[in-house]
Amino acid sequence: MNAAYWEEEARKLSALSDDELLARIHAAKQRWGKDLCILAHLYQRKQIGDVADFTGDSFLLSQKAAAFDGGKYIVFAGVRFMAESAAILARPEQKVVHPDPEAGCPMADMAALPEVERAWDVLSRDGGPKIVPVTYMNSTADIKAFCGKHEGTICTSSNADKTFRWAFERGGRVFFLPDEHLGRNTAFKLGLTEDDLAIWDPEKDDGGDRDRYAEAKVVLWRGYCPVHKKFSLRDVEHVRKFYPAAKVLVHPECPADVVAAADFVGSTEYIRRWVAEASKPGDQIFIGTEINLVQNLQAQYPDRLVAKLHRSLCLTMYQITLAKLCVAVEHPDKLEKVAVDDATKHWARVALDRMLELT
Ligand code: 13P
Ligand code: SF4
Repeated sequence: MNAAYWEEEARKLSALSDDELLARIHAAKQRWGKDLCILAHLYQRKQIGDVADFTGDSFLLSQKAAAFDGGKYIVFAGVRFMAESAAILARPEQKVVHPDPEAGCPMADMAALPEVERAWDVLSRDGGPKIVPVTYMNSTADIKAFCGKHEGTICTSSNADKTFRWAFERGGRVFFLPDEHLGRNTAFKLGLTEDDLAIWDPEKDDGGDRDRYAEAKVVLWRGYCPVHKKFSLRDVEHVRKFYPAAKVLVHPECPADVVAAADFVGSTEYIRRWVAEASKPGDQIFIGTEINLVQNLQAQYPDRLVAKLHRSLCLTMYQITLAKLCVAVEHPDKLEKVAVDDATKHWARVALDRMLELT
């Protein structure tokens, strides 16, 4: 059966109420038992997180996928690069299913392999010290494979600093893809300054910073997350003015001035854990990340003020609906699997294993 058929099935199911869909998902889960597992990213809507077997940031979920020795089907509620990472780490007899294969991450799509190879050609021959490619987990499987093949690795927002240190030990420079902001924030965390950085802009033939590449410690690919780029210093200043006792937590995909003004910075899992373990009733917490995570935390901790720094929704995460999840959980045997070709899988796995070893 082709993708259009399943899309039509999901469309029909969307006429059902959330309760009806949840009842069907639970019933299907029971039928599959240990043969099926649902992994959901923390940016998924609340009902999807509630029905999942595991929720977490992209790092935790990649570990769960690697460790899942239960059954045949992994249903991944998140964006496509996350489902691809699970497919790379899963055992050959396991099948990873993505409820909406069209739900990609716009930032991951900002680094296309031919453009990255063009940049690499210049950077690896520019006469500077050895350069090590490091890609953020939020990248396509072929970019992960590119890093594996060129002695590089992968990082997530929770281990980027460790990964940079590892890369500096192997060469003098890091080529970081695809998020300029996470790259800059990580470099600053390690004590580097703007003078140590150069930008590779894929829209410019020579990358745009030609005179700087050989001496820069980090070359940043000019990509960004549209969700986190929306947060501004003014948002933080507003909180400081009207809620002086509040704590501000932000994701490291936010611009550097927002990160510098925040009290705490970390991955989605870090933010979730901070609210769960470091805050107490009555506290005021403003969060700069995707709105679903903020709303889920609000619902979980009604005894404290958990508020958004700004409303910012990830549209492609939101494309995973209960109806699509229901189709995936009821028919994982019939839906197309998330396919990654063998060579890409091999090299991406080399890079992912390096990351998992490192952390
Ligand atoms: P995490 O690595 O924190 O899960 O981030 C994933 C993501 O998509 C952030 O935009
Ligand atoms: Fe991609 Fe940003 Fe959405 Fe995360 S929040 S999936 S980085 S667009």
